[in-house]
Amino acid sequence: MKVVLYLIPFVSSVFSMMTENDMPEILCKCLSEKAGSITIIPADLILYTCVNKYLAETWLERYQPPRRIDPDTINWLRSLGRKVRGQEYNIRTKRQAARRVRREIRTLTDAQRNRFIRAVQELKDRRIGSTNRYDALASAHDGRALGSAHSGPNFPSWHREYLKLFEAALQEIDDRVTLPFFDSRLDYNLYDPRESNFWGENFMGDHRGVVSNGPFRLWRQRNGAYLERNGGNSGSMISPRGIRDVLSRRRNIDILSPWAARGRYGLENYHNAVHVWVGGSMLGVNTAPSDPVFFLHHCFIDYVWEQFRQRQTVDSETDYPFDQRAPPSQAPNRIMDNLETGKRNIDGYSNDYTDQYYRYSRSPTLCRQCRNRYPYLRCGDWFRGLCSATNRARITTFRSPIKNIKSLGIKKQFSTTINDSSRNKTSRKRRSTGDWLVYEPLIEEEIVSKTGRTKRSISSRRSNQKKRTSHITNMDSSMQNSFLLDGEPDIKRWVFIPVKIVHRRPSGLLFGTKVIKNKNIVDGVDVYSYNKYMNYTGEEQQAAYSHSFTSGSGADKVYVQVDGMSYNGKYIDYTIVDSRLPVSESVAFVAVKNPKLNSSISYISAYDSHGRICRPYCHSYRSYSNQYKTCSGVINLTEEKPKLYGEDVGEVTRLLYKSGKGKDFSRSDKNIFLSFYCDFHEMPWGKC
Ligand SMILES: *[C@@H]1O[C@H](CO)[C@@H](O)[C@H](O)[C@H]1NC(C)=O
Ligand SMILES: *[C@@H]1O[C@H](CO)[C@@H](O)[C@H](O)[C@H]1NC(C)=O
Ligand SMILES: *[C@@H]1O[C@H](CO)[C@@H](O)[C@H](O)[C@H]1NC(C)=O
Ligand SMILES: *[C@@H]1O[C@H](CO)[C@@H](O)[C@H](O)[C@H]1NC(C)=O
Ligand SMILES: *[C@@H]1O[C@H](CO)[C@@H](O)[C@H](O)[C@H]1NC(C)=O
Repeated sequence: MKVVLYLIPFVSSVFSMMTENDMPEILCKCLSEKAGSITIIPADLILYTCVNKYLAETWLERYQPPRRIDPDTINWLRSLGRKVRGQEYNIRTKRQAARRVRREIRTLTDAQRNRFIRAVQELKDRRIGSTNRYDALASAHDGRALGSAHSGPNFPSWHREYLKLFEAALQEIDDRVTLPFFDSRLDYNLYDPRESNFWGENFMGDHRGVVSNGPFRLWRQRNGAYLERNGGNSGSMISPRGIRDVLSRRRNIDILSPWAARGRYGLENYHNAVHVWVGGSMLGVNTAPSDPVFFLHHCFIDYVWEQFRQRQTVDSETDYPFDQRAPPSQAPNRIMDNLETGKRNIDGYSNDYTDQYYRYSRSPTLCRQCRNRYPYLRCGDWFRGLCSATNRARITTFRSPIKNIKSLGIKKQFSTTINDSSRNKTSRKRRSTGDWLVYEPLIEEEIVSKTGRTKRSISSRRSNQKKRTSHITNMDSSMQNSFLLDGEPDIKRWVFIPVKIVHRRPSGLLFGTKVIKNKNIVDGVDVYSYNKYMNYTGEEQQAAYSHSFTSGSGADKVYVQVDGMSYNGKYIDYTIVDSRLPVSESVAFVAVKNPKLNSSISYISAYDSHGRICRPYCHSYRSYSNQYKTCSGVINLTEEKPKLYGEDVGEVTRLLYKSGKGKDFSRSDKNIFLSFYCDFHEMPWGKC
């Protein structure tokens, strides 16, 4: 009787308050166009690109009101632009002397770096219009620029001009400051990039959650949300191989989106992977410049692009690719959006920038260029012969974030994680008993450009065997969300829904739970792969990040990401699965817009920490059977009954486990509308 009553809402005409919507045309087209490259680039980068493309092209549907900018700010931006032009004029008379040198931030002296950091802090402190100078500049990346400065030929040009403005703003405060760059190859080459000094207190501050130490501690974004990062959950620093692939091409059409978006020559893909790696504010295109890391990262992309330009065999100033595949807003003669300098998109391809304003000092990559020369760089941490950043611990004593977090009024940051002050370096080096899997899609074998300066290829340098048997996983970090929704950070604007994750054991893994048969160890299997009833020999089709690992314990994360379609908001959380098991199942709780506020339509996606995407399934309430069917992942949440969401995590838990007592303590999957299947075999996206 109880069961029947319970089912009635599902079989009546209004069968659910959560329904599947069709995937919007723009998103679907983008995903299916790129589906073929899931064997080359991690699918979460494809997802990142396509979601951003969708959000950029439809931003007016979400921004209420659209990006506002006051006259003072416009005047200031214009004055910066004039300043830049003024310099140009002066410099023409005595050019070499005045050209600034942009350097890798780890090659600056402490004094130089501190000047830069102080100037950035000062930008944040100086008011302009209704905001401050930093945020005024950050907001230029939003609105129309979402579409006209990304995924196309205007990507390197618009950002080049943007960096120039940012640098001019810094120089207005301190004329000796030049924008440094963040060569993330130096961090890729580090055994564990999360340990890099770049995230030290004297550089950018920590990457775990709300930025609560370093020069930008407790910074707020322009909408009031805290500056936050979720470092190393997914994504990747840029591999030396990736840069060499880019530099092996000669035409912009070969390295820029949309033409090169599908392959490993795509500059923007590598750039995206760093945004994804840092996470938090850096993840949303509209919020990314809130983090000063943005400008250092983009300066490196500009550095790479400049190296590419130097190698071009055609005129770099006119090699602006444009056809019907490129967004119309990126037409060469269109004025750059939001920068107020009056430059056209193609003007960003001018040689003036590097002839007159700045040049780049070569970033040290080979050991002989960095050995014993810079305190923050070392030689051969993971790859022999290559420079890497140093670990934070080697330079500064690690201060526990627990101390700082008190000022947020939060008693304790981590309730279940390792106690940082007792944390020991040896305990960090993972057990070397289990086996590990290194994914190498981005560094696959390929003929190296003969014009490249490096004589030997990276792949010929064997990485340090001893260290490769250790584990680097992201199991220590949690996930911080901004709770920003339509410009206001507040958990009350969100509600939680359960999402079921069904994960299959990936191939190629071998864990330390050995099988003993007839007194001997059976090679090549562990207890969980030793079975005759299931078959795990099929290779995953999907590419994964090369610098990502499965923990020897089998613990792995699957992320669930929410992107608002009828609202402006993003939410990500994860659940933990056991990669040893043939099938492992778990439930993630993620937040979507509270339907009481207004239309709550979200695109929900799931991917693992190796960048591989899972397929969405929706509950089919029409039938009596408890079945899931493949679906779009776009859900429309309404206030109609039955209520399949919770105002908080406790309420969602009650949806799943009704009383939490005795025999009722079994999960009620009928209340889980959305599920993801992660086998990484099939194409993750259906047809549209
Ligand atoms: C962390 O460990 C240290 C020493 O091992 C101890 O003094 C401290 O109370 C611990 N802190 C927490 C929050 O458990
Ligand atoms: C750290 O590890 C070393 C070596 O295993 C051990 O001797 C030391 O007691 C550990 N320290 C702490 C604080 O656990
Ligand atoms: C295992 O999978 C492979 C490839 O899908 C197939 O050819 C083979 O027959 C399967 N073996 C068993 C025992 O199912
Ligand atoms: C819901 O959206 C409509 C139009 O988009 C708007 O007029 C209304 O104020 C919104 N309501 C709330 C509660 O935000
Ligand atoms: C979402 O669902 C509600 C209730 O079923 C419906 O009125 C509304 O039109 C739907 N929105 C969209 C965009 O489909």
